[in-house]
Amino acid sequence: MPDEGEAKSGLPHLRVDVLTLFPAMFDGVLGESILKRARDAGVLDVRLTNFRDYAEGRHKKVDDTAYGGGPGMVLKCEPVFSAVRAVLGDDQDAHLVLLTPQGKTLTQNKVRELAGKRRIVMLCGHYEGYDERIRQGFPWDEISIGDYVLTGGELAAMVVIDAVARLLPGTLGDETSATEESFEQGLLEYPQYTRPPVYEGMAIPDILLSGHHEEIAKWRRRMAEERTRERRPDLWRQYMDGGAQG
Ligand code: ADE
Repeated sequence: MPDEGEAKSGLPHLRVDVLTLFPAMFDGVLGESILKRARDAGVLDVRLTNFRDYAEGRHKKVDDTAYGGGPGMVLKCEPVFSAVRAVLGDDQDAHLVLLTPQGKTLTQNKVRELAGKRRIVMLCGHYEGYDERIRQGFPWDEISIGDYVLTGGELAAMVVIDAVARLLPGTLGDETSATEESFEQGLLEYPQYTRPPVYEGMAIPDILLSGHHEEIAKWRRRMAEERTRERRPDLWRQYMDGGAQG
């Protein structure tokens, strides 16, 4: 076994523990394509824990009605506190992520920050919400993947894992492609083309066949800037201010 914090290849690795009531939802996403490759390479180690296993009683109840009334069920404290404590053990510095539409919206900056962690523990809620004492009980980094409400945190956790995994050294093979792409620089991606040069009457821009690498780089930059200005004035303003990108 490699040391904690190191993949077979000697590259650093990230361990992610996901606490969820629906671990099977992760199978397809983690078992295909680049995430599968990252896991096979030992760069990414994802462990799924069903926190229903930590629920008490014969019925393993994880949710209950809300004090004060109202529709929907609330996630109970006991199974979550027990599961988080069991998964953490005596690990003092795991980064705790709570998936919730009340969290800060995920940005590429946050993804980069998470990719630098050694270990992340994620809690996926379901039902109407978390008992507020779950929020109080641990130093959660509360993350939302956007201003819409999902049926649970699982899809959000998969989005976070996917975005983080592609930044881990060794995941994409080509080390530069994740950091050179324009979003990392605060811009949207420039238009890309591959063979054939003309398809159903639509030709690719001549510049791309010119072989002038510098001119191509300039053209791409200009297109990325134009796209960002037109489509995402918010990103464009940040880019022009030279401020933090996200
Ligand atoms: N759970 C439900 N909706 C969510 C969202 N938008 N982001 C993160 N977790 C969620």
